[in-house]
Amino acid sequence: MNICCIGAGYVGGPTMAVIAQKCEDAKVTVVDINDARIAAWNSDDLPIFEPGLDEIVQAERGKSLFFSTDVAGAIKEADIIFICVGTPTKTYGVGAGQAADLKYIESTARMIAKEAEGDKIIVEKSTIPVRTAETIQRILESTSGGYQFSILSNPEFLAEGTAIRDLLNPDRVLIGGETDEAGQQAVEALVGVYASWVDREKILTTNLWSSELSKLTANAFLAQRISSINAVSALCEATGADVDEVARAIGTDSRIGPKFLRSSVGFGGSCFQKDILNLVYLCEYFGLPEVAEYWRQVVSMNDYQRKRFTRKMITSLFNTVSGKRIAILGFAFKKDTDDTRESAAIYVCRDLLLENAHLAIYDPKVPASTIYRDLGIEPDDPRVEICSTAYEATQEAHAAAILTEWDELATLDYERVFAGMLKPAFLFDGRNIVDLPALRAIGFDAQGIGKGG
Ligand code: NAD
Ligand code: UGA
Repeated sequence: MNICCIGAGYVGGPTMAVIAQKCEDAKVTVVDINDARIAAWNSDDLPIFEPGLDEIVQAERGKSLFFSTDVAGAIKEADIIFICVGTPTKTYGVGAGQAADLKYIESTARMIAKEAEGDKIIVEKSTIPVRTAETIQRILESTSGGYQFSILSNPEFLAEGTAIRDLLNPDRVLIGGETDEAGQQAVEALVGVYASWVDREKILTTNLWSSELSKLTANAFLAQRISSINAVSALCEATGADVDEVARAIGTDSRIGPKFLRSSVGFGGSCFQKDILNLVYLCEYFGLPEVAEYWRQVVSMNDYQRKRFTRKMITSLFNTVSGKRIAILGFAFKKDTDDTRESAAIYVCRDLLLENAHLAIYDPKVPASTIYRDLGIEPDDPRVEICSTAYEATQEAHAAAILTEWDELATLDYERVFAGMLKPAFLFDGRNIVDLPALRAIGFDAQGIGKGG
């Protein structure tokens, strides 16, 4: 079986690596229009960092897994085509700031229509608004040479940092298809791919629209839990409660469950905000303003949490950070990834720069060039120094802020950190990973999120 994946990003790369490893009779070709990205996939320095990914790519590349810029050739050869291109928030025209920009999806569909020389199964893996399959179908039907295209929805639920683990052992795989015979045959073909390593009872099949909508809904529910616990964190600080204790107390209720209740400086990542805004847009489009407003609050609470964190830093630092060296520990949007898209660290750093702070930034995986790009500054900007260790960043600093929950930041030698800092030495833990009483015993003025005591 020939599988082609269009889009060699955070989803396309890892997902196809696992399919290539697990699906013995498949030849998998991942294509992209970005030459540099494909060159990196073919090198020893992969374009994304993801635990366990290197090993699989090394083992499968050139055997069952190929990376190429020949999009047309891969389309011609393929029986199944996965669409894994980006669907960012629109920045222009109708729906700007909310709706998903489907230009990459549309150009991919047009490319498939132009190059296909036979029947194909087309799998939407990108996250898209409900009823996008209809658009793809129309483009294919009106511009191709009369071949049969079966469109399936197969949203991806992996989380970055644990992508390989999530792919190897998913909670579920969701496949939506048309209910006619051709549609069901296509669904069965894709079920067959996943059944190579996933139990059949974990492979859920639905109609197209349920599958498309389930992806946006899953992300909205996950982000809503974080905004809910973050809202409670503000109340904890005002009342003397401890948000981690509250999370544990409510999480033992099996109806609520313990996962995804870690209060933080705010959720980041390329998808939560964009997908909720897309949901908000869809609700408004379908005439449901109250529903739209309900989901919009999840994003508003996240904005509030990031701002609240920065404001607390400034207030604690005697209402001014101007000219002060502040160590930023962690820049990625979560641990075990080099991805910084929508990272809370970007927002906190930008706000601190507006207050004329001097930032000394350390992240174990994010390259300096990414940090300069994200902050919109030149490498020679005197206000920002990129450091190669947390100790270097905190040296002579007035304050340190932990913005990513990297394991190494929880286990630093904080006596050493304290010795290097100016006094009073402030530490703001935006991830609740350090032992605040122990740090206070060393001498830090240490504060967490939702730690009212
Ligand atoms: P990404 O930006 O890392 O990768 C997308 C790739 O598509 C880019 O390399 C781009 O060059 C390529 N591309 C765009 N147009 C193309 C075309 N016409 N032909 C060939 N290649 C083209 O994006 P991503 O993070 O992998 O996300 C992809 C989709 O998956 C999005 O819809 C996202 O919402 C969804 N998703 C992402 C995650 C995640 O953890 N990142 C998880 C689940 C779902
Ligand atoms: C999320 C979902 O978890 C995936 O199921 C989904 O496939 C993906 O979005 C997507 O559609 O892109 P991801 O963004 O990679 O995955 O990572 P998460 O683990 O969900 O973390 C998102 C953000 O929330 C991070 O900034 C993380 O630090 C934060 N978070 C997470 C918290 O602040 N508290 C928590 O309890 C959990």
